Amino acid sequence: MEKKIAAIVQKFTEAAQTASDSASIERLRVAFLGKKGEIAELMKDLKSVPAEQKKEFGQKINQLKKDVEGRLNDLTEAVAQKELEVLIHSAECYDVTMPSMVETGSYHPITLVQRELEDIFAAMGFTIEDYDEIVDDYHCFEALNIPKHHPARDMQDTYYLDNGQLLKTHTSAAQNAIMRKYGAPLRAIFPGRCFRNEAIDACHENTFFQMEGIMIDKDISISNLIYFMKTMLSEVFQRDVQVRLRPGFFPFVEPGFELDISCQVCGGTGCPSCKNSGWLELCPCGMIHPNVLTAGGIDPEEYTGFAFGLGLTRLAMMKYGVKDIRTFNSGNLKALSQFESL
Ligand code: DAH
Repeated sequence: MEKKIAAIVQKFTEAAQTASDSASIERLRVAFLGKKGEIAELMKDLKSVPAEQKKEFGQKINQLKKDVEGRLNDLTEAVAQKELEVLIHSAECYDVTMPSMVETGSYHPITLVQRELEDIFAAMGFTIEDYDEIVDDYHCFEALNIPKHHPARDMQDTYYLDNGQLLKTHTSAAQNAIMRKYGAPLRAIFPGRCFRNEAIDACHENTFFQMEGIMIDKDISISNLIYFMKTMLSEVFQRDVQVRLRPGFFPFVEPGFELDISCQVCGGTGCPSCKNSGWLELCPCGMIHPNVLTAGGIDPEEYTGFAFGLGLTRLAMMKYGVKDIRTFNSGNLKALSQFESL
């Protein structure tokens, strides 16, 4: 019996040395601890052992069983750890430095133009302001020298809310708040989304973007206005752009102008985008009306300033040769993602 136990110990020790994966450990377990395994056979042999030795051998066999179980557990743990390490270092793991295959999005063309303008104006000392889309009548009209029942209101078919507020029809609606926030002297641009109840066609949308700018200081004149407009446009188009100034009426500027640029879609020969005129109204502007300065808490005797309301949406059409304004709000990624990826 003694010899048999020793032989099994040796056999198990040898077999355990070559058990290198979970399958071979399982085979070992069956061979030694299974119903017909080595230890079960030993138990059978115990029957033929003389009665006085039964207890001693019984204990030895139990101890052997415990040792084998313990050793098998250790082996299982070691093999699991090894298999995990192999998995971690194998080809199945991720290389986080690999370039992603996920498609990236792209900036909307209006965002691109807006950012470009922000850079240009920031370089000329303008601050960039954000403003609400829901405003009140005072800021959108009254503070801009457009009293109730003024015919200029007819130009901007306004969406009113039940509570009397409205969706801002132009970025000029922020002028008063910005003048009050900073006082004079002041240089600021404020891009924003505007809303009007327009009949939609290739050139008109009910939701569009503008970028308003104001510069207020001592002795600001129309020459300053023209200089800033020309500098900005040639930066945007990266070439000398033809512009023309026509008189224009806006209650919040005096004098007021319409600044047109030669149509960049057709080059000035005439197309549906420019209604065959070769020119596109891009940037109404003028010298800020004294009443508007006063409403903004700025003394018109001491300060003068210019203002402009750039059609951001229109500028994006010009710059990228987009013929139909509806493309911008279409959600058509094929059309919108071709300008610059993120
Ligand atoms: N707010 C005007 C509009 O959307 C555009 C405008 C005209 C803005 C003249 C100005 C300006 O700042 O000076 O119709």
